[in-house]
Amino acid sequence: MEIINNPKQVDIKTAAQALKDGHLVAFPTETVYGLGADATNEKAVSRVYSVKARPTNHPLIIHISSMNQFGKWATNIPEYAIKLAKAFWPGPMTLILKKSYLTKNFITGGQNLVGLRVPSHPTALMLIKEFENLGGFGIAAPSANRFGAVSPTTSDAVMEELGPYLSHSDFVLNGGASEVGVESTIIDCSADCPNILRPGMISKEQVENVGGLRINDNISGSKIKTSGILISHYSPEAEVVLDGKTCPEDGFFAMAEIQTPTGAIRLGSPATIEEYAKNLYSVLRLADQKGLKRISIIQPSGDGLAVAIRDRLSKAATR
Ligand code: TXA
Ligand code: MG
Repeated sequence: MEIINNPKQVDIKTAAQALKDGHLVAFPTETVYGLGADATNEKAVSRVYSVKARPTNHPLIIHISSMNQFGKWATNIPEYAIKLAKAFWPGPMTLILKKSYLTKNFITGGQNLVGLRVPSHPTALMLIKEFENLGGFGIAAPSANRFGAVSPTTSDAVMEELGPYLSHSDFVLNGGASEVGVESTIIDCSADCPNILRPGMISKEQVENVGGLRINDNISGSKIKTSGILISHYSPEAEVVLDGKTCPEDGFFAMAEIQTPTGAIRLGSPATIEEYAKNLYSVLRLADQKGLKRISIIQPSGDGLAVAIRDRLSKAATR
């Protein structure tokens, strides 16, 4: 595959053409890197599943350039979903809606719902627009990691995860480190009121503030299949411990104000919660690169992004 650093418009056009021709393109988004395929091309989409080793009943998010593309993939869109799209797109939010006739079962894992997102990373947006200029409708893209592993937030991490499985006609676009660092907030919009299926940077409070909506956040009560809500996910090779019991030789990650326990190997000292989220996945990777057996992580407290971080950490710690 070809890696393109700091892609210009001409490179992105080439990548969009590759997508149209049925190849795969890994690209940066503001949350994590995605592994993209033409969402109408069954063969290309099936390669996404095999490159990731992902079970085919786990649906893929379709990335579109604006809410004007809503109607192609979804139908019966509730008013509150339109309000959310206007408020938070482009951005780190995925809406789950009733699928249209265009949305085939090979994208949705056989469910009658589709996940849609307009990312804000300029390279991602330009890739989607160029793909639409070529007659494409949307880019299906899960996080560009092997199933159950840590999502990549850099192109190096994409290569580490998927390099051996990509072919020479595929592309990897390097657009720098993802700013947010944890995956999008997923909101089920298929019922009378929204339901957060996966917390992310767009918080429950922000969603409720848009149009005074009350959130139903009983994830375990949902019948919708979302791989991010599997109990074990986002896992490095190293054992992740969250109980604060740190041994000498353990990796250690916590906010900057927390001191390193004696003998532990400090892997990061974020000053803010935003920096914590941005660095989290690269810290998990670093622990594996250093061959550490365990990594002790002190979780952040509070609302908003801290909820998403604790969600990912509890899954990374589950085996
Ligand atoms: O930030 C993100 O959302 C990143 C970037 C690349 O956009 N994508 C991402 O994709 O995290 P993935 O496939 O790793 O996680 C998407 C989650 C999965 O757990 C999937 O099951 C769920 O979204 N999902 C997608 N479509 C769905 C649908 N129709 N119904 C229910 N869940 C869906
Ligand atoms: Mg994923």
